[in-house]
Amino acid sequence: MAIGILLVGGFGTRLKPLTNQTPKPMLPVGGLPVTEHQLLAAKKAGINTVILATSYLAEVFTPYFGDGSKWDMKLLYAEENEPLGTGGAIRNAASLIDFASTNEEFVIFNGDVLSGHNIAAQLDFHRLNQADVTLHLIDVADARAFGCVPTDSNGKVLDFLEKMENPVTNAINAGCYVFNSSVISQIPAEKVVSIERETFPQLVKSGRPVYGYNEQSYWLDIGTPAALFKGSRDIVGEGFLAGLGSKIGENAVIAGGTSIGQRSRIGANCKINNSIIGDGVLIGDGCTIEDSFILHDSQIADNSKIIGKYISPKENLPISLQ
Ligand code: GDD
Ligand code: MG
Repeated sequence: MAIGILLVGGFGTRLKPLTNQTPKPMLPVGGLPVTEHQLLAAKKAGINTVILATSYLAEVFTPYFGDGSKWDMKLLYAEENEPLGTGGAIRNAASLIDFASTNEEFVIFNGDVLSGHNIAAQLDFHRLNQADVTLHLIDVADARAFGCVPTDSNGKVLDFLEKMENPVTNAINAGCYVFNSSVISQIPAEKVVSIERETFPQLVKSGRPVYGYNEQSYWLDIGTPAALFKGSRDIVGEGFLAGLGSKIGENAVIAGGTSIGQRSRIGANCKINNSIIGDGVLIGDGCTIEDSFILHDSQIADNSKIIGKYISPKENLPISLQ
Protein backbone atom coordinates (compact mmCIF):
# COMPACT_ATOMS: atom_id res chain seq x y z
CA MET A 1 0.00 0.00 0.00
CA ALA A 2 1.04 3.58 -0.67
CA ILE A 3 3.21 5.42 1.84
CA GLY A 4 2.17 8.87 3.07
CA ILE A 5 4.38 11.91 3.56
CA LEU A 6 2.97 14.92 5.41
CA LEU A 7 4.74 18.24 4.80
CA VAL A 8 4.54 19.85 8.21
CA GLY A 9 7.71 21.95 8.37
CA GLY A 10 6.63 25.41 7.20
CA PHE A 11 6.89 28.47 9.47
CA GLY A 12 3.19 29.33 9.26
CA THR A 13 4.09 33.01 8.93
CA ARG A 14 0.62 34.16 7.83
CA LEU A 15 -0.85 32.56 10.97
CA LYS A 16 1.30 34.48 13.43
CA PRO A 17 0.97 34.86 16.41
CA LEU A 18 -0.97 31.53 16.49
CA THR A 19 2.16 29.73 15.29
CA ASN A 20 4.51 31.31 17.85
CA GLN A 21 4.58 28.11 19.90
CA THR A 22 2.64 25.70 17.71
CA PRO A 23 3.52 24.57 14.19
CA LYS A 24 0.61 25.28 11.84
CA PRO A 25 -0.37 21.59 11.36
CA MET A 26 -0.63 21.12 15.14
CA LEU A 27 -3.18 23.93 15.55
CA PRO A 28 -6.53 22.48 16.60
CA VAL A 29 -9.54 22.63 14.31
CA GLY A 30 -12.77 21.09 15.56
CA GLY A 31 -10.82 19.91 18.62
CA LEU A 32 -8.09 17.95 16.78
CA PRO A 33 -4.80 19.04 15.19
CA VAL A 34 -4.97 19.53 11.41
CA THR A 35 -2.42 16.70 11.09
CA GLU A 36 -4.73 14.30 12.91
CA HIS A 37 -7.58 15.02 10.47
CA GLN A 38 -5.12 14.30 7.64
CA LEU A 39 -3.88 11.06 9.19
CA LEU A 40 -7.46 9.86 9.53
CA ALA A 41 -8.13 10.70 5.87
CA ALA A 42 -4.95 8.85 4.80
CA LYS A 43 -5.93 5.84 6.86
CA LYS A 44 -9.37 5.77 5.27
CA ALA A 45 -7.61 5.41 1.89
CA GLY A 46 -5.60 2.45 3.19
CA ILE A 47 -2.37 4.38 3.85
CA ASN A 48 -1.02 3.02 7.12
CA THR A 49 2.59 4.22 7.07
CA VAL A 50 3.11 7.98 7.16
CA ILE A 51 6.32 10.00 7.39
CA LEU A 52 6.04 13.43 8.99
CA ALA A 53 8.45 15.84 7.27
CA THR A 54 9.16 18.26 10.10
CA SER A 55 11.37 21.28 10.55
CA TYR A 56 9.96 24.33 12.43
CA LEU A 57 9.05 23.30 16.02
CA ALA A 58 9.65 19.65 15.10
CA GLU A 59 9.62 18.61 18.77
CA VAL A 60 5.89 19.36 19.12
CA PHE A 61 4.76 16.44 16.93
CA THR A 62 6.33 13.41 18.61
CA PRO A 63 4.77 13.72 22.08
CA TYR A 64 1.32 13.91 20.52
CA PHE A 65 1.56 11.31 17.74
CA GLY A 66 4.26 8.95 19.06
CA ASP A 67 4.74 5.87 16.89
CA GLY A 68 1.16 6.15 15.58
CA SER A 69 -0.07 2.98 17.31
CA LYS A 70 -2.92 4.93 18.93
CA TRP A 71 -4.32 5.32 15.39
CA ASP A 72 -3.22 1.82 14.40
CA MET A 73 -0.73 3.40 11.99
CA LYS A 74 3.02 3.49 11.66
CA LEU A 75 4.47 7.00 11.94
CA LEU A 76 8.04 7.98 11.16
CA TYR A 77 9.65 11.39 11.65
CA ALA A 78 12.08 13.10 9.30
CA GLU A 79 13.63 16.33 10.50
CA GLU A 80 15.32 19.06 8.49
CA ASN A 81 17.76 21.18 10.46
CA GLU A 82 17.15 24.01 8.02
CA PRO A 83 13.90 23.93 6.01
CA LEU A 84 14.60 22.18 2.68
CA GLY A 85 11.54 23.52 0.85
CA THR A 86 8.67 21.29 -0.21
CA GLY A 87 10.74 19.21 -2.68
CA GLY A 88 13.77 18.86 -0.43
CA ALA A 89 11.46 17.85 2.42
CA ILE A 90 9.86 15.10 0.32
CA ARG A 91 13.26 13.73 -0.72
CA ASN A 92 14.54 13.89 2.86
CA ALA A 93 11.43 12.15 4.25
CA ALA A 94 11.41 9.40 1.62
CA SER A 95 15.04 8.60 2.41
CA LEU A 96 13.88 7.17 5.77
CA ILE A 97 12.83 4.14 3.77
CA ASP A 98 14.50 2.43 0.84
CA PHE A 99 12.42 4.32 -1.72
CA ALA A 100 14.52 3.36 -4.76
CA SER A 101 13.67 -0.31 -4.37
CA THR A 102 9.98 0.03 -3.54
CA ASN A 103 7.11 -0.27 -5.99
CA GLU A 104 4.78 1.56 -3.64
CA GLU A 105 3.54 4.98 -4.56
CA PHE A 106 4.01 7.90 -2.20
CA VAL A 107 1.07 10.11 -1.35
CA ILE A 108 2.26 13.57 -0.31
CA PHE A 109 0.09 15.98 1.63
CA ASN A 110 0.57 19.68 2.26
CA GLY A 111 0.20 19.74 6.02
CA ASP A 112 -2.23 22.65 6.22
CA VAL A 113 -5.09 21.38 4.08
CA LEU A 114 -8.45 19.96 5.14
CA SER A 115 -9.76 17.94 2.22
CA GLY A 116 -12.70 15.60 1.84
CA HIS A 117 -11.57 14.28 -1.54
CA ASN A 118 -11.36 10.57 -2.29
CA ILE A 119 -7.66 9.72 -1.99
CA ALA A 120 -8.25 6.11 -3.05
CA ALA A 121 -9.92 7.34 -6.26
CA GLN A 122 -6.94 9.66 -6.89
CA LEU A 123 -4.63 6.62 -6.56
CA ASP A 124 -6.83 4.63 -8.98
CA PHE A 125 -6.72 7.51 -11.49
CA HIS A 126 -2.92 7.60 -11.16
CA ARG A 127 -2.62 3.88 -11.91
CA LEU A 128 -5.12 4.00 -14.76
CA ASN A 129 -3.05 6.70 -16.50
CA GLN A 130 0.27 5.05 -15.64
CA ALA A 131 1.26 8.49 -14.43
CA ASP A 132 4.50 9.51 -12.72
CA VAL A 133 2.69 12.13 -10.65
CA THR A 134 -1.02 12.76 -10.07
CA LEU A 135 -2.10 15.96 -8.37
CA HIS A 136 -5.45 16.57 -6.75
CA LEU A 137 -6.91 19.66 -8.44
CA ILE A 138 -9.82 21.79 -7.30
CA ASP A 139 -11.51 24.78 -8.94
CA VAL A 140 -11.50 27.99 -6.92
CA ALA A 141 -12.94 31.44 -7.67
CA ASP A 142 -9.59 33.23 -7.24
CA ALA A 143 -6.56 31.13 -8.15
CA ARG A 144 -3.91 33.82 -7.59
CA ALA A 145 -2.69 32.54 -4.21
CA PHE A 146 -2.23 28.97 -5.43
CA GLY A 147 -0.49 26.77 -7.97
CA CYS A 148 -2.40 27.12 -11.21
CA VAL A 149 -2.65 23.84 -13.18
CA PRO A 150 -4.02 23.75 -16.74
CA THR A 151 -4.77 20.25 -18.09
CA ASP A 152 -5.96 18.73 -21.38
CA SER A 153 -9.31 16.92 -21.68
CA ASN A 154 -7.77 13.65 -20.39
CA GLY A 155 -6.43 15.35 -17.30
CA LYS A 156 -2.81 15.51 -18.48
CA VAL A 157 -1.09 18.49 -16.90
CA LEU A 158 0.06 21.07 -19.46
CA ASP A 159 1.81 23.50 -17.15
CA PHE A 160 2.39 24.29 -13.48
CA LEU A 161 2.33 27.98 -12.59
CA GLU A 162 2.87 28.74 -8.91
CA LYS A 163 1.08 31.90 -7.69
CA MET A 164 0.48 34.12 -10.68
CA GLU A 165 -1.32 37.47 -11.04
CA ASN A 166 -3.43 36.45 -14.04
CA PRO A 167 -4.30 32.76 -13.58
CA VAL A 168 -4.88 30.87 -16.85
CA THR A 169 -7.42 28.51 -15.23
CA ASN A 170 -9.38 28.20 -11.98
CA ALA A 171 -8.05 24.67 -11.41
CA ILE A 172 -5.45 24.81 -8.65
CA ASN A 173 -3.04 22.44 -6.99
CA ALA A 174 -4.98 21.25 -3.93
CA GLY A 175 -1.81 20.03 -2.18
CA CYS A 176 -2.14 16.22 -2.36
CA TYR A 177 0.08 14.32 -4.81
CA VAL A 178 0.63 10.71 -5.79
CA PHE A 179 4.30 10.16 -6.72
CA ASN A 180 5.99 7.14 -8.23
CA SER A 181 9.22 6.45 -6.36
CA SER A 182 11.21 7.10 -9.56
CA VAL A 183 10.20 10.77 -9.32
CA ILE A 184 11.55 11.01 -5.79
CA SER A 185 14.96 9.77 -6.99
CA GLN A 186 15.09 12.76 -9.34
CA ILE A 187 14.81 15.36 -6.58
CA PRO A 188 18.35 16.32 -5.55
CA ALA A 189 19.23 15.18 -2.02
CA GLU A 190 20.13 17.55 0.82
CA LYS A 191 19.28 20.65 -1.17
CA VAL A 192 16.57 23.28 -0.89
CA VAL A 193 14.07 22.42 -3.64
CA SER A 194 10.57 23.72 -4.31
CA ILE A 195 8.29 21.03 -5.67
CA GLU A 196 5.99 23.73 -7.07
CA ARG A 197 8.56 26.07 -8.63
CA GLU A 198 11.16 23.52 -9.75
CA THR A 199 10.11 19.85 -9.83
CA PHE A 200 6.57 20.11 -11.28
CA PRO A 201 7.44 22.59 -14.06
CA GLN A 202 10.50 20.50 -15.00
CA LEU A 203 8.54 17.24 -15.12
CA VAL A 204 5.85 18.80 -17.30
CA LYS A 205 8.41 20.41 -19.64
CA SER A 206 10.22 17.14 -20.15
CA GLY A 207 6.94 15.51 -21.20
CA ARG A 208 6.58 13.15 -18.25
CA PRO A 209 3.08 11.81 -17.52
CA VAL A 210 1.81 14.23 -14.88
CA TYR A 211 -1.97 14.11 -14.37
CA GLY A 212 -4.56 16.15 -12.54
CA TYR A 213 -7.33 14.39 -10.63
CA ASN A 214 -10.08 17.01 -10.38
CA GLU A 215 -12.54 16.46 -7.55
CA GLN A 216 -14.74 19.19 -6.17
CA SER A 217 -15.22 18.27 -2.53
CA TYR A 218 -14.75 20.05 0.79
CA TRP A 219 -11.35 21.76 0.65
CA LEU A 220 -9.64 24.41 2.73
CA ASP A 221 -6.08 25.66 3.21
CA ILE A 222 -6.04 26.79 6.84
CA GLY A 223 -3.04 29.09 6.27
CA THR A 224 -4.55 32.32 7.70
CA PRO A 225 -6.36 32.93 11.02
CA ALA A 226 -9.67 33.54 9.18
CA ALA A 227 -9.32 30.24 7.30
CA LEU A 228 -8.32 28.33 10.43
CA PHE A 229 -11.44 29.56 12.25
CA LYS A 230 -13.60 28.72 9.24
CA GLY A 231 -12.15 25.19 9.14
CA SER A 232 -12.94 24.71 12.79
CA ARG A 233 -16.49 26.10 12.44
CA ASP A 234 -17.08 23.85 9.41
CA ILE A 235 -16.30 20.81 11.55
CA VAL A 236 -18.21 21.94 14.64
CA GLY A 237 -21.37 23.31 13.01
CA GLU A 238 -23.50 26.03 14.58
CA GLY A 239 -23.31 25.27 18.28
CA PHE A 240 -20.15 24.12 19.99
CA LEU A 241 -18.13 20.98 20.49
CA ALA A 242 -16.24 19.94 23.62
CA GLY A 243 -13.68 17.14 23.89
CA LEU A 244 -13.39 14.32 26.37
CA GLY A 245 -13.23 15.32 30.02
CA SER A 246 -14.16 18.98 29.48
CA LYS A 247 -16.69 20.57 31.84
CA ILE A 248 -18.99 23.48 31.15
CA GLY A 249 -20.20 25.62 34.08
CA GLU A 250 -23.83 26.56 34.83
CA ASN A 251 -25.55 29.03 32.51
CA ALA A 252 -22.57 29.26 30.18
CA VAL A 253 -23.64 30.13 26.62
CA ILE A 254 -21.27 28.75 23.99
CA ALA A 255 -22.03 29.23 20.31
CA GLY A 256 -20.83 30.22 16.85
CA GLY A 257 -19.04 26.96 16.08
CA THR A 258 -16.71 27.23 19.10
CA SER A 259 -14.51 24.21 19.70
CA ILE A 260 -13.17 23.23 23.10
CA GLY A 261 -10.45 20.60 23.45
CA GLN A 262 -10.09 17.90 26.08
CA ARG A 263 -9.91 18.34 29.88
CA SER A 264 -10.83 22.04 29.78
CA ARG A 265 -13.07 23.84 32.28
CA ILE A 266 -15.39 26.69 31.38
CA GLY A 267 -16.69 28.68 34.36
CA ALA A 268 -20.32 29.52 35.13
CA ASN A 269 -22.08 32.31 33.20
CA CYS A 270 -19.42 32.54 30.50
CA LYS A 271 -20.39 33.76 27.04
CA ILE A 272 -18.22 32.28 24.30
CA ASN A 273 -18.63 32.80 20.58
CA ASN A 274 -16.61 31.81 17.46
CA SER A 275 -13.53 30.75 19.38
CA ILE A 276 -11.00 27.93 19.44
CA ILE A 277 -10.10 26.70 22.90
CA GLY A 278 -7.38 24.09 23.37
CA ASP A 279 -6.86 21.22 25.82
CA GLY A 280 -6.44 21.70 29.55
CA VAL A 281 -7.66 25.31 29.49
CA LEU A 282 -9.15 26.81 32.65
CA ILE A 283 -11.60 29.67 32.14
CA GLY A 284 -12.98 31.42 35.20
CA ASP A 285 -16.61 32.43 35.85
CA GLY A 286 -18.37 35.24 34.01
CA CYS A 287 -15.93 35.55 31.11
CA THR A 288 -16.80 36.85 27.64
CA ILE A 289 -14.72 35.34 24.85
CA GLU A 290 -15.22 36.13 21.17
CA ASP A 291 -13.22 35.53 17.99
CA SER A 292 -10.31 34.30 20.07
CA PHE A 293 -7.81 31.45 20.14
CA ILE A 294 -6.93 30.12 23.59
CA LEU A 295 -3.93 27.78 23.44
CA HIS A 296 -3.64 24.53 25.46
CA ASP A 297 -3.07 24.92 29.21
CA SER A 298 -3.93 28.64 29.35
CA GLN A 299 -5.70 30.04 32.40
CA ILE A 300 -8.15 32.92 32.29
CA ALA A 301 -9.26 34.86 35.36
CA ASP A 302 -12.93 35.37 36.35
CA ASN A 303 -14.84 38.09 34.48
CA SER A 304 -12.22 38.52 31.75
CA LYS A 305 -13.30 40.06 28.47
CA ILE A 306 -11.34 38.60 25.57
CA ILE A 307 -12.20 39.74 22.08
CA GLY A 308 -10.06 39.06 19.01
CA LYS A 309 -7.13 37.71 21.05
CA TYR A 310 -4.53 34.98 20.94
CA ILE A 311 -3.91 33.77 24.47
CA SER A 312 -1.24 31.26 25.46
CA PRO A 313 0.28 30.52 28.87
CA LYS A 314 2.99 33.03 27.84
CA GLU A 315 1.29 35.54 25.56
CA ASN A 316 -1.75 37.77 25.14
CA LEU A 317 -1.84 39.30 21.65
CA PRO A 318 -4.45 40.69 19.27
CA ILE A 319 -5.53 38.70 16.18
CA SER A 320 -7.61 39.70 13.19
CA LEU A 321 -10.06 37.34 11.56
CA GLN A 322 -10.52 39.50 8.46
N1 GDD B 1 9.10 19.92 5.94
C1 GDD B 1 8.92 21.07 5.31
N2 GDD B 1 10.00 21.82 4.96
N3 GDD B 1 7.66 21.48 5.04
C2 GDD B 1 7.49 22.65 4.39
C3 GDD B 1 8.56 23.46 4.00
C4 GDD B 1 9.89 23.02 4.31
O1 GDD B 1 10.91 23.67 4.01
N4 GDD B 1 8.06 24.56 3.40
C5 GDD B 1 6.70 24.43 3.39
N5 GDD B 1 6.36 23.27 4.01
C6 GDD B 1 5.01 22.75 4.21
C7 GDD B 1 4.10 23.72 4.94
O2 GDD B 1 4.13 23.44 6.33
C8 GDD B 1 2.75 23.40 4.34
O3 GDD B 1 2.11 22.34 5.00
C9 GDD B 1 3.07 22.93 2.92
O4 GDD B 1 4.47 22.60 2.92
C10 GDD B 1 2.76 23.98 1.87
O5 GDD B 1 3.38 25.19 2.21
P1 GDD B 1 2.56 26.56 2.33
O6 GDD B 1 3.50 27.60 2.81
O7 GDD B 1 1.30 26.36 3.06
O8 GDD B 1 2.29 26.85 0.78
P2 GDD B 1 1.07 27.64 0.13
O9 GDD B 1 -0.21 27.43 0.84
O10 GDD B 1 1.49 29.05 -0.09
O11 GDD B 1 1.00 26.94 -1.34
C11 GDD B 1 0.98 25.54 -1.46
O12 GDD B 1 -0.31 25.02 -1.19
C12 GDD B 1 -1.36 25.42 -2.10
C13 GDD B 1 -2.63 24.71 -1.69
O13 GDD B 1 -2.98 25.05 -0.38
C14 GDD B 1 1.41 25.16 -2.89
O14 GDD B 1 1.58 23.76 -2.93
C15 GDD B 1 0.37 25.62 -3.92
O15 GDD B 1 0.73 25.14 -5.21
C16 GDD B 1 -1.00 25.06 -3.56
O16 GDD B 1 -1.98 25.54 -4.47
MG1 MG C 1 -0.75 26.54 2.61
